[in-house]
Amino acid sequence: MNKKSFLSLVLLSSISVDVLSTPQELLKGYEAQSGMASSTRGEQFFNAKHGKEWSCASCHENPPNHDTKHIVTGKVIKSLSPNTNPERFIDQAKVEKWFKRNCNDVLAHECTAQEKADVLSWLMKVK
Ligand code: HEC
Repeated sequence: MNKKSFLSLVLLSSISVDVLSTPQELLKGYEAQSGMASSTRGEQFFNAKHGKEWSCASCHENPPNHDTKHIVTGKVIKSLSPNTNPERFIDQAKVEKWFKRNCNDVLAHECTAQEKADVLSWLMKVK
């Protein structure tokens, strides 16, 4: 293999590492593990407190269609709705990482596949 083809191979493999998805694909994945999503249930879940101090809306606000501020650090959080922020719900690893962390903060345990499906289906409707 010459130097040029070796370099293009390296380049190609580094590009394919981060496999991107779509909100629709992620939603299908959650629904396959649970059942049909309900955006009504998702909206209620997002805006309610679950026995602790915060709701999802504490940091992401309602409607979550604009940049907001983290309730503790004050850092800007980009809009959570995939309709106003095309970078949302396209990277499964990132989505799972933050669902895990945020659900633990709000519920004291992880969200179920049904809860994720519900919330995502609602966020996909938020304009
Ligand atoms: C204490 C503040 C805080 C609360 C409460 C919170 N989040 Fe977040 N959320 C963040 C931060 C910070 C990020 C990561 C930074 C970013 O991506 O802008 C994030 C990112 C996310 C992401 C990543 C989406 C993507 O594709 O980038 C999801 C999903 C999410 N939050 C869902 C939720 C849900 C559901 C709840 C309620 C159970 C919730 N969040 C509550 C602060 C919060």
